[in-house]
Parts: sequence; structure tokens; C-alpha cells
Amino acid sequence: AKYTWVDKETCIACGACGATAPDIYDYDDEGIAEVIYDGDGNHGVTEIPEDLYDDLQDAQDGCPTDSIKVADAPFNK
Ligand code: F3S
Repeated sequence: AKYTWVDKETCIACGACGATAPDIYDYDDEGIAEVIYDGDGNHGVTEIPEDLYDDLQDAQDGCPTDSIKVADAPFNK
């Protein structure tokens, strides 16, 4: 299983993740990214389905500030 959240303290609103993985990431009013998949609310507790793993990996690799956190267990942020 995979889980993800965005560290909004270090996100610089570059906009790459939402372009790469629009089913997982969206932006708040200030353009800072957050996990919106299935109503996660950026808590990192919602299991990301396997068909989105490629998007997830690409988004994590593409973030210039390493703000996208991914792990095999829920974060509960
Ligand atoms: Fe922010 Fe990184 Fe996405 S800087 S907008 S979390 S690609």
C-alpha cells in the first residue's frame, strides 16, 4: 500500500505535482499543494490505488523541494 501527504511548510507552489498527478494533488487558495485523493485532506491516511503509483512516483520525483512524502503506511498528519 502507498500513502502520501504534502509538507505545506516546504512546498513552494511550483505546480508540478498537480499537473503530474491531478487525481492525487490539488492546490489550496495560495497554490500550496495538498492531497485531495478520496477526501484525504492531506492527512496521508488514504490508500492510493495501484493504478496511480506511476503518477505518485513521478510527482515525488518531480517536486523541486522534496515536499511530497510517500510511505507504505499511513502518516496520520
Ligand atoms: Fe509544491 Fe512540490 Fe507540488 S513544491 S506544488 S509539492 S511539486
